[in-house]
Amino acid sequence: AAAEKGGYDYFMLKEIAEQPKAVADTLLGRIDAAGSLTLDEVRISASELREVDKVVIVACGTAFHAGLIAKYAIEHWTRIPCEVELASEFRYRDPILDQQTLVIAISQSGETMDTLMALRHAREQGARVLAICNTNGSTIPRESDAVLYTHAGPEVAVASTKAFLTQLVACYLVALYLGQVRGTKWGDEIHAVIRDLSQISGEVERVLETMEPVRALARSLAHKNTVLFLGRHVGYPVALEGALKLKELAYMHAEGFAAGELKHGPIALIEDDLPVVVVVPSPRGRSVLHDKIVSNIQEIRARGARTIVIAEEGDEAVVPYADHLIWIPATPTLLQPLVATVPLQVFACELATARGNEVDQPRNLAKSVTVE
Ligand code: AGP
Repeated sequence: AAAEKGGYDYFMLKEIAEQPKAVADTLLGRIDAAGSLTLDEVRISASELREVDKVVIVACGTAFHAGLIAKYAIEHWTRIPCEVELASEFRYRDPILDQQTLVIAISQSGETMDTLMALRHAREQGARVLAICNTNGSTIPRESDAVLYTHAGPEVAVASTKAFLTQLVACYLVALYLGQVRGTKWGDEIHAVIRDLSQISGEVERVLETMEPVRALARSLAHKNTVLFLGRHVGYPVALEGALKLKELAYMHAEGFAAGELKHGPIALIEDDLPVVVVVPSPRGRSVLHDKIVSNIQEIRARGARTIVIAEEGDEAVVPYADHLIWIPATPTLLQPLVATVPLQVFACELATARGNEVDQPRNLAKSVTVE
């Protein structure tokens, strides 16, 4: 078993470390020399893709968080409206679907019953279903019209890590591909993003090299009961994912909020020394959001929160308000989740260890949920 874990104590640590390769492998062979996408395996014709007038993403858990992030990319790059829904809720509300709807079912295992039932329902209504899946030949891709495989390799730990990063990459590929076949006005931007995507694996590697302070911080918080996570834009689903990881692994009360919602309720939770992790958008690009989140950090700190700030290298504006700083490399806005999630995975894994929990097999959970 030790050999299987490649020298790591847990599969989860091994899988976190494998992320740069998983990301690179998922891009491999899908971008040609001219910087265009070749997703030949996606067996939905270009003319069918041109007719799509709505995208609906269905998934559960971590895969659902990947879907929430994908929505920003799909709408921005293709201008096609995109909804994201928990697979377990989807079919019970009689969703509006037809032949022009592209349903994207995201699943690491390809066996999640809720997701499978959602895609069956979508196909019955005439929608085309594209699976994003990590397991060759599993049920979800077999029952879909097309599949784009993530190449994360087998994920053994119950808590999903490398599958999540590769789901994001696959979603971006689909979004860019839709933009490419439909010839949206984002042509130049699409080429720039493809270039940035091919460099992202190196950035993930750099983040992994700087995780020791994150581990030390996690150990120092092992006695806490609650941790809150805040984010905005694509940082919001990252906050949700950080909280899910902590629930699963550390059995701590953890919640993710959209930072803009703070004043609508959650700020009442802030009390002395409560750890709050804040994912800060880049100060470049959407700087309005950056400035708003910096004021959120000030507000919660003034009320006693212990602020743990994940910010882009060189973002001096956050320094005065951060009790703990976690730097991540500069990336384009939409790609930030690929680097910002990594410290949250490491944080949750180390907290689980510090609290004496079973990292790879958290209590009450199964790797793939094959019942509804
Ligand atoms: C993630 O850490 C979870 N264990 C869980 O939320 C998982 O992502 C969810 O059950 C979906 O699984 P799937 O990707 O295999 O469909």
